[in-house]
Parts: sequence; structure tokens; C-alpha cells
Amino acid sequence: MTHDVSALRDIAVKAVTMAGEFITLERPTQLVVGHKSTSTDAVTQMDTQAEALIVDYLRSVRPQDGFLGEESGESATAHTGVTWVIDPIDGTVNYVYNLPQYAVSVAAVSGPPNPAEWTVLAGAVVNPSSAETWSASRGGGASLNGTALDAPQPTSLDQALIATGFGYCPQQRDRQAAVVRELLPQVRDIRRLGAASLDLCLVADGRLDGYYEQGLGPWDFAAGALIAAEAGRVVSGITEPTPSSTGVVVAGDPVHGQLLKALRTLMG
Ligand code: IPD
Repeated sequence: MTHDVSALRDIAVKAVTMAGEFITLERPTQLVVGHKSTSTDAVTQMDTQAEALIVDYLRSVRPQDGFLGEESGESATAHTGVTWVIDPIDGTVNYVYNLPQYAVSVAAVSGPPNPAEWTVLAGAVVNPSSAETWSASRGGGASLNGTALDAPQPTSLDQALIATGFGYCPQQRDRQAAVVRELLPQVRDIRRLGAASLDLCLVADGRLDGYYEQGLGPWDFAAGALIAAEAGRVVSGITEPTPSSTGVVVAGDPVHGQLLKALRTLMG
């Protein structure tokens, strides 16, 4: 089945724009903060309401598609072969603390709603605090606020600014901290901004040289990974060829190869 990836990209941009306005303009003075996998894995009423808003909009324009949302899981059969992968607020902890690094991420994928098997067709990420929207369609390039991305590639890992992130499980954080401890002397510096989708977009537009993380949800990286790939970055897993919950590594060539080699050595 062929898909109009440019039309899907436009829809993704509309969805993130609408949800981005909602979570900033309608932010209540009193956020209700609950938790999910652990006591530090935050969710607010704005996460669930923004996801519902996005699904309602997507249903109105693409009634036969499927959905995979961070808050509501998998819903509706994808009669068209297209599933929308939604993170209504990526960087919820930053959102709760009123730090500006949070985003809305929406991607359209074809195939089973599983990163090992899907093909990402189009996606968009908005950071409402900085009024920046990145988007991409498969084969159609990536852009930031409508301007095509064409940032130079970094040249070596020891000069590279590398972002990473940490999961919410203490044991996993312990392992992630051990890797950062060993990687830090090998790079220019490390950043932990707190929203994986933004990390990926910042590698795409050249404000970061690379990014890696283990334990992400598919909604964290579906759109950002396509945006980085369409901007000319190399996107992979750590032990697997494609990004998944077991690992995501993104950087320009040759830093990607150098970073991957270092991570594989450190992770044994
Ligand atoms: C989290 C952020 C964070 C990353 C975590 C994710 P959430 O997403 O992307 O940067 O390190 O692994 O879970 O929970 O804010 O949607």
C-alpha cells in the first residue's frame, strides 16, 4: 500500500501544534501529578487530555487509522495500515517543574505498531516553549519551522556533545550511570535535557552531536528518529540495527560509529 507521506506530515504538524498550544495555554495552576512505572515516572491530567485531543483530531481526519499512545496504549485497528504513535508530553518531569524542555511528538508508521517491524512514514515534534516545530516525511527531508535541515556533521567523538537520558527504574539508572561515568572522559561533554524527542531533533539540527539512550518507549523516538534520519544523521539501536526500547543511538557519520563502538564496549 502506498501512502501520501507529505499529507501525513502535514497532519502530524497540525496535531503537535494543536496539542502544544493546549498544554501551554491551558496549563492549570494546580497540576494533578500521578505516577506510572515508578514513583518518579510522572503523569499529569494534561498528558491524558492532550493525548485525547490528538486522537480526536486524528480520528476526524483519518478515521480508519490505528493509534499507539503513551497514555492510552494501542487502540483501534489500522484498516489503512497506518498507526499514529503519540507522546502527548515528552519530558513530563520538565513540564511539571516548568522547565522549557518538553515536547509533543506524533508519528505515522506503517506495518505492525512495533519499532522492530514498522516503517516510520512521517512525524512532527513541537517544543511549545521555544516555538520550534521539527517535521519529516520519509524521503521528503526534515525541517525546523519550515526550513530544511542541513547542519554539518561532527567529526570525532572526543569533540562531540552527546546527550543521553535515564529511565525511571533505580536499577536501570544505576547501569546507565556506570556507562556515563566511562563515556564522559571520551567526549566533549554530556547533556541530559529530559525529553528524548527533543534530543533527537537537536541532533538533527546540529545543536547536539549525538544522543543515545536505553529503555525508551516507542512514542519517545518514533518521530524524532525519522527527523534525524531525514536530516542525514545515522540512526540505529545499540545491539540491534533499528532503534527500539533496548537502545537508540543517533549521530552524524563518523561519530555514530565511534559512539556505537564505545557503547558496545561499555555495555559488554
Ligand atoms: C522520558 C523523556 C526522558 C527520557 C525517558 C523518557 P516521558 O519521557 O523522554 O528524556 O530519558 O527515558 O521516558 O516520560 O517524559 O514521556
